[in-house]
Order: sequence, then structure tokens, then C-alpha cells
Amino acid sequence: MRYYFAPMEGITGYIYRNVHHRHFPEMDRYYMPFISAHASHSMKHKEKEDIRPANNAGLFAVPQVLTKSADDFAWTVRELCETGYREVNLNLGCPSPTVTTKGRGAAFLGRKEELREFFSRSFELIERYTPDVRISVKTRLGIGDPEEIHELIRLYNEFPISEIIVHARTLREMYNGEAHADVFASVLSESAHPLVYNGNIFHPEEAARLAEMSGRHRAQTDRQDILPEPDMMIGRGLLRNPALVREIKGGERLQMAELQSFCGDLFEAYREVLPGPKPVLARMKELWWYMSMLFEEREEVLKRIRRAKTPAELEIVSDQIFASQHFADEGSGFCGLN
Ligand SMILES: Cc1cc2nc3c(=O)[nH]c(=O)nc-3n(C[C@H](O)[C@H](O)[C@H](O)COP(=O)(O)O)c2cc1C
Repeated sequence: MRYYFAPMEGITGYIYRNVHHRHFPEMDRYYMPFISAHASHSMKHKEKEDIRPANNAGLFAVPQVLTKSADDFAWTVRELCETGYREVNLNLGCPSPTVTTKGRGAAFLGRKEELREFFSRSFELIERYTPDVRISVKTRLGIGDPEEIHELIRLYNEFPISEIIVHARTLREMYNGEAHADVFASVLSESAHPLVYNGNIFHPEEAARLAEMSGRHRAQTDRQDILPEPDMMIGRGLLRNPALVREIKGGERLQMAELQSFCGDLFEAYREVLPGPKPVLARMKELWWYMSMLFEEREEVLKRIRRAKTPAELEIVSDQIFASQHFADEGSGFCGLN
């Protein structure tokens, strides 16, 4: 069983990944926030920095590409291959209107013939120029109906995809409501490729529930190659509790002092690299929005965080919170899986 850190644009860039890995080394892989495959066949400075091997030393990091053009995809894969990467992930899951109005991300799932042509052409070019690179896919269940995944899996089966990460929601569901872990379990036996589960793993209980569901499904099929516990990708659960994977593995629960030390190092690293106090403040405030869910008095924590006007103020407020607030007693039986 392997655990992947989900890509989260604007948050899990290389600075966050490095600090997280230093404090919580349990992750097997980090997927990078998407880079757009530009028609100009070039990369932005920020994208180059994020994939630079020196900025990912010691991490198993996988770059992700967002595109609907096979030629642009193949060009970007070639660049990434020359940089040293041996796996590239294709983003077929982004639900943001700025992406979907251009037919990319999860919107591509609604045009299956075009998607088939995209894969045909992409694999033809990749086979020719970069045959050593594995192409994995991050998909949603479909556009509006979770059962669309069956047809999508049949389509993916036609191509030499290395692995499929399934965010068990449709495009229309965005990030809301429960994830359809039951639908995910039901397609395990239909896929020719290994499937990785993603969606609403916030506590060890949900991870256990998924393993139990997958195990039950495995027992009902003759596909004994299906793992009872599929690999798992986790996003927001790890932003909230950076020690979540350790806890899932039966390790110690997150300690307040650990969270404080992690935040302190992250602050430091952002200060060194980001251009000026505004982006440092914005990044840390965004992270606090997720971390505040760990606390008994979440509203009080958020109120104090929001009031900070500079990174220095935020650091003082953060230390006060770590010294005076308590974690809520998690593991209360809540489960975000269907
Ligand atoms: C702020 C934010 C940014 C995201 N950026 C990306 C991205 O760049 N690429 C991607 O494939 N998914 C992206 N996602 C989706 C996550 O990778 C993940 O699939 C989703 O949050 C569901 O998993 P979770 O319930 O464990 O968070 C993003 C999600 C959030 C909340």
C-alpha cells in the first residue's frame, strides 16, 4: 500500500513538499500541481522552478500536465523526460471553470471520441520520442453521473497507461459532499491498469473503510490480482493534518509541538523564497484555513488568523494558538465516504 500526496495548485509547490517531507517522511510520492502544456512549447519560470531536480532532491515527485493537445503534451513530456522524470501524470480532473471552459481537465471526460484521439496520438509520439516514460492519469468519475466511470475505464483500457488515480467525484460535484468510494470499488475489476483511490480521506477511519470495501469487492471477483487495499492519494486531509499518513499506518497521532515546528519551518522557507511579505501571508493563511479544522475552537482560531496583517503578526498569533488551543477529539465516527 502506497500513499501519494495529491497535487494542489497554489499550496503543494516544491517549498511545501520539501518541508513536509522533512517533518513527515512517510509519504511514498508527491504529485506536483499541474503545469500547462503551452502551445508555444515553453515553460514559465514558476513551472521550471517547481520541476527543477535540485528543488525536489530526495523526494519521489511526479509532474502533472494539463492539456487537450497531444502535440503539446508530447512536447512537455519530452522536456520533463530530459529533466530526468520517468513518470508524467495527465490531469483529467480539474473542475475549475477557467480550465473546463477551454475543454481541458475534467471537461475532457465529456468528449470521449476526442479523448480517444488524444491518447492515440499522444502514445504514438511518446512511443517514438520518449518510450521510457510512464504516463499515468488522474481522472474524475465523469461529468455528471458517477457511473460514467465504467465507459471511461473501457476507454483507458485501450491505452498503455501506467496507473489511474480516480478522484471519486464527478466534475459537477467539484469538491463537495461525500466521495463515491463504492463506485470506485466497483470498477476495480474492470480496469486493465492499477487504480489509485482519491477523495475525502481525512481520518484513519476512512482509509480503513476504503480498504474494507475494496477487500469485499475483491472477494466477489475472480480477479485475484486486485489488491485488497489499493494505493491512496490524499489531498486536503494532509493539509489539515500533515501526519495523517503516519496515523493511517498506525503511528503516533499528531502532536501540537510537531505542528508548530512544521509551520515554523514552512514560514521560514516561504520567507526565503517568495517575493515579499504578501505571498508569504497569503500562503500561510490558506494553510491555516485547513489546519484550523484540527482545533476544538475552529472559529476562534480562524478569527485570530484573519486579523494578522503581516507575516510577523501571523507568526506571533500562530504561536499563541499553539500554546493555548487544543485539538478536537477526532475519530468521532464521521466518514466522508459513500
Ligand atoms: C486548492 C486545490 C488545488 C488543487 N490543484 C490540483 C492540481 O493542480 N491538480 C490536480 O490533479 N488536482 C488538484 N486538486 C485536486 C486534489 O488533487 C484532489 O484530487 C482533491 O482535493 C480530492 O482529494 P482530497 O479529498 O483528498 O482533498 C486541487 C484541490 C484543491 C483543494
